[in-house]
Amino acid sequence: MKKRKMVIGNWKMSPDTLKEAQVLNDSIKRKIGSIKKTIAVICPPSIFFSTLKTRSSSKKFFYGVQNVAKERGGAYTGEVSASMIKSLGAAFAIVGHSERRAMGETDEDVCKKIQALLAEKIRPVLCVGESAMDENANYLSFIKNQLTKGLSGVVAANITEVVIAYEPLSAIGAKNPITSHEIHQRNIFIKKVLADLYGKAKAFDVTILYGGSVNPDNARELVEGGEVDGLLVGRASLNADDFFRIAKVMDSLS
Ligand code: PGA
Repeated sequence: MKKRKMVIGNWKMSPDTLKEAQVLNDSIKRKIGSIKKTIAVICPPSIFFSTLKTRSSSKKFFYGVQNVAKERGGAYTGEVSASMIKSLGAAFAIVGHSERRAMGETDEDVCKKIQALLAEKIRPVLCVGESAMDENANYLSFIKNQLTKGLSGVVAANITEVVIAYEPLSAIGAKNPITSHEIHQRNIFIKKVLADLYGKAKAFDVTILYGGSVNPDNARELVEGGEVDGLLVGRASLNADDFFRIAKVMDSLS
């Protein structure tokens, strides 16, 4: 089965109020209805999740969260478990975003979170990416390490449930993305790591996204040149029009 293109909006800690979040959500929902083949996902802050997520059974528009507890339940002040977000209708959850890794999230935490999510049938979006490139290509071992450790509890039968988002730190929140040539090279490398872990056929079925300074004007070049399955979008997902335009580009490439 041909993989469908995917666009995921990560709202991070925005917008400031529920009212603004509702306006943005309504605007995206109005526009996204015309997207035909692409899977569109928005990940608002968890606190707004249940108000924004309506009981729609769309096969192409989903809601996700930006983080989840690594523990399944119990005395963990401030945490939100996979079963809680499942009960609110979350279909996706971002794990291992570099901004959370910078706050202390380890590969072991990422691994546990992926397990907790898969147990609830929520699709994990595993973010990987190097902080810097170097001439000796140590950054490739860095990516391999993040993948291998993060996926260490995932069996072959579940690997296609996991979405991999390649996000080099230099491009997140930056002025420009990396080049589509560089994305293509990392995409091949990630596939190779997945093939070594799960076999070639499975590796080619895993959805691989690029993220970092994506906007409506560069989306086509990044996806076509990088040969990725879609995009993880930060800032541009906070503008309904921009997010919709990116989704439209994905649709035209599906
Ligand atoms: P950006 O963020 O699109 O604002 O660069 C991407 C991300 O952090 O996922």
